[in-house]
Order: sequence, then C-alpha cells, then structure tokens
Amino acid sequence: MDIMIAVQDACVSGQWLTAIILSLCCFLPSCLPAGQTVDYTTSSESVVSRQGDTALLRCYLLDGISKGAWLNRSSIIYAGNDKWSGDPRVSIVSNVGDKHEYSLQIQKVDVTDEGVYTCSIQSERNLHPKLIQLIVKVPPKIYDISSDITVNEGSNVSLICAASGKPEPKISWRHISPSARKYESGEYLNITGISRDQAGDYECGAENDIASPDTKTVRVTVNFPPAIHEMKSHGVRPGQVALLRCEAAAVPSPVFEWYKGEKRINMGQGIVINNLSSRSVLTVKNMTQDRYGNYTCVAVNRLGTANASVPLNPIIEPTTTSAVSSPASNPAMYGSTGGAEVLLACWYLILALSSLVTVY
Ligand SMILES: *[C@@H]1O[C@H](CO)[C@@H](O)[C@H](O)[C@H]1NC(C)=O
Ligand SMILES: *[C@@H]1O[C@H](CO)[C@@H](O)[C@H](O)[C@H]1NC(C)=O
Ligand SMILES: *[C@@H]1O[C@H](CO)[C@@H](O)[C@H](O)[C@H]1NC(C)=O
Ligand SMILES: *[C@@H]1O[C@H](CO)[C@@H](O)[C@H](O)[C@H]1NC(C)=O
Ligand SMILES: *[C@@H]1O[C@H](CO)[C@@H](O)[C@H](O)[C@H]1NC(C)=O
Ligand SMILES: *[C@@H]1O[C@H](CO)[C@@H](O)[C@H](O)[C@H]1NC(C)=O
Ligand SMILES: *[C@@H]1O[C@H](CO)[C@@H](O)[C@H](O)[C@H]1NC(C)=O
Repeated sequence: MDIMIAVQDACVSGQWLTAIILSLCCFLPSCLPAGQTVDYTTSSESVVSRQGDTALLRCYLLDGISKGAWLNRSSIIYAGNDKWSGDPRVSIVSNVGDKHEYSLQIQKVDVTDEGVYTCSIQSERNLHPKLIQLIVKVPPKIYDISSDITVNEGSNVSLICAASGKPEPKISWRHISPSARKYESGEYLNITGISRDQAGDYECGAENDIASPDTKTVRVTVNFPPAIHEMKSHGVRPGQVALLRCEAAAVPSPVFEWYKGEKRINMGQGIVINNLSSRSVLTVKNMTQDRYGNYTCVAVNRLGTANASVPLNPIIEPTTTSAVSSPASNPAMYGSTGGAEVLLACWYLILALSSLVTVY
C-alpha cells in the first residue's frame, strides 16, 4: 500500500523520490521492473536500545544536494524533511556540518518498533540504502510470584515465579534464610516433603543482560507439632522460690499447660506461669511440702501435643541423712552444672547465709 502511495507521489514531487522507491525494491525484488538495474551499495548495522529509551539511527547524506528518506519496514516515515508517519515519537536529527546528518530519532522505543529501518540516500549517481536493525531490549520484570504460604511439614511445595523481559530472563531461586542455599533455575521451585529447616524466605531472581536483576521473595511457613527439648527443675528447700522450665519447638507456637501429677495447675496462690513463644516457666514463689512432686509440661498446637515430666524434689540437707527423695531422680539438679563438690560448697554457703539471716 505504502509503495503505491509513494509511486503516486513520485509523479507529483519529482525524480528523487522515485529513486528512493526503487531503492526499496531491493527488499521487495518483485517490485523492480524487469530488466532494470540499479546501482547501489548496501551497508547494514544494528542498534540496541532499551525499552523506553530514545533510539538514534544514524545516517549521513553524501552532500548538500543528496536527498534522503527513512523507511520502517516498507512504510515511509520521512521523505526528505516531509514527515509521512503520524507517530509523534519520530523525528529527524539533521546537522549541516561537513557531514550532512540525516538520522532518525525514536523516543520511548518499544518492542513493536523492532525491525529493519532503511535510510535511503539518493545522489546524482547512486542509491545507497543503509539498513539498520533496531533491537529493543526489555529489563527483567517479575510479574507473578507465589504468595506467602503455610504448609505442614512433609508437604510438597511448588513455588512459581514468572518474569518478562527481552531477552527472556533467566529465573533462579535462593533460600535466603536460614540456609542461603541455591536451587536449580526455572519458573518453578518444587520441594517434595518439605522439612522444618526449609522454612523461610525464598528469593526469586530474574536476570537478563540489559539491566540489574529483578527480585521478589516469598515466605514459606512450615508447621510441625510440638517437641519438648528441655524440661528442667531447680530443687529448693521449703520457703524458697522454685522454677520449672519447659522448652518446646513447634510451629505455630505452642500453648503450654502444666500439671502436677494428674492435676492441672493454674495461676494464683503463689504460682506464676510465664510463657514465651517457645518456653514456659512455672514459678512457685514459696515452696511448701505439698508442692513437691512430679510436674508435667504439655505443649499443644493444632498439629499435635507433647509432654515431658520432671520431679521437683526437696534439697537434701547436707547435715541430715533423712533425704526425702533419691537425688538421682532429679537430673536437672545434678546433671548439667559441672562438679558435684562445687555444688555442695555452694549449698553450704547458702545455709550459712540463711542461718545468719534468721539470727537477725
Ligand atoms: C514500525 O512499524 C511497526 C509495524 O508496523 C510499528 O508497530 C511501529 O510502531 C513502527 N515504528 C516506528 C518508529 O515507526
Ligand atoms: C509428593 O511428591 C511425591 C513425589 O513426587 C509423591 O510421591 C507424593 O505422593 C507427594 N505427596 C503429596 C502429599 O502430594
Ligand atoms: C513443578 O511443579 C509444577 C506444578 O506443580 C509442574 O508443572 C512442574 O512440571 C514441576 N517441575 C518439576 C521440575 O518437577
Ligand atoms: C500462658 O500461661 C497462662 C497461664 O496459665 C495460660 O493460661 C495460657 O494459656 C498460656 N498461653 C500460652 C500461649 O501458652
Ligand atoms: C511461705 O509459706 C510459709 C508457710 O505457709 C509461711 O510461713 C511463710 O511466711 C511464707 N513465706 C513467704 C516469703 O511468703
Ligand atoms: C510423672 O508423671 C508422668 C505423667 O503423669 C509419668 O509418666 C511419669 O512416670 C511420672 N514420673 C515419676 C517419677 O513419677
Ligand atoms: C503425655 O504423653 C503420653 C504419650 O506420649 C500420654 O499418654 C499422656 O496422656 C500425656 N500426658 C498428658 C498429661 O497429657
């Protein structure tokens, strides 16, 4: 269609345009009249531009009297200084110096502008079409990523990350916290039988050669039932403060309950329960004989329950042999604190001090 218009116009506006149209024939061989030859030399180059930038396709006229034209594929954009294109983004950059610049500027280039542009120069002797391949690259952009998810331990997890860009971005996955482990590349990150240590933030990165990578993260929460990994008691003499500590790992955070024997312990009457996300501390403010016994900590979340028991025993008075309970039954008291002699010396000191206090 454009050729037809151009041909018509050639009749009106003069000889040089006809020449340009003929030069176009080198891309459309069928349009060249049989037997006719045109003397031309073709040069070709490519211009790489980033989407949104201004692209400059350079072309120079041979001298002041040469005429030029610009074509986008087969459509005429400019014929001389006459703009044929209705696109406001295109303009001619002319510069009448020793070289007569006749470059095409395209603002806010987009992928649709990609293709071959022709700068056709007509001098008295020759037609010189210059072909410029415009390549438009697009920075990577993640347009879709899985939303944060919560799964039970052992589940199969499939995360997706989709990105656009030109060239097609390469997608990679990384477990940011806590392991910083890299996973194989691809849109999908599939984890079969997820474990609790695979919980955390996963970063998707989309990368191509045109700009810095685009990244987005998705949080994976892995639920698992409680497991009590520490249960300790500190045996005390009557009248002292007794502490019981229970530590449990669980996601979501567990709810703690305390029992003495079979009986549920509630707050009040000198008993305080402090619970943090993974720990519960039971404090007996003033130990009495009837409060010695077997204590059980129960940790519950919606995936399960765990319990652990520990006896709270009276301290064996070093001076008396009538110990109430056998020391070996309370590992918390004797288990973890280094030498037994140190412990014993310590109790002597406490006894000495408390007897001093009673004197006053
Ligand atoms: C070039 O032609 C293509 C296809 O017709 C069009 O989409 C694009 O906007 C044109 N670009 C310029 C700068 O004329
Ligand atoms: C998880 O994937 C494995 C291997 O692909 C499959 O055998 C198993 O049935 C899947 N489990 C679930 C809960 O879908
Ligand atoms: C990962 O999971 C998705 C969807 O569940 C599936 O389409 C894809 O083929 C899987 N990829 C691999 C490498 O297993
Ligand atoms: C914390 O302790 C209180 C004290 O009895 C108890 O009622 C409550 O359920 C506990 N909360 C959690 C989250 O464990
Ligand atoms: C602890 O309890 C005993 C017996 O009930 C009482 O005599 C004593 O005053 C209490 N001590 C404190 C510090 O409350
Ligand atoms: C403490 O209580 C638990 C649960 O009631 C029980 O399994 C355990 O045998 C008891 N331990 C002692 C030393 O009585
Ligand atoms: C503690 O766990 C055992 C099984 O592990 C269960 O039989 C018992 O009833 C639990 N005790 C409490 C107080 O929940």
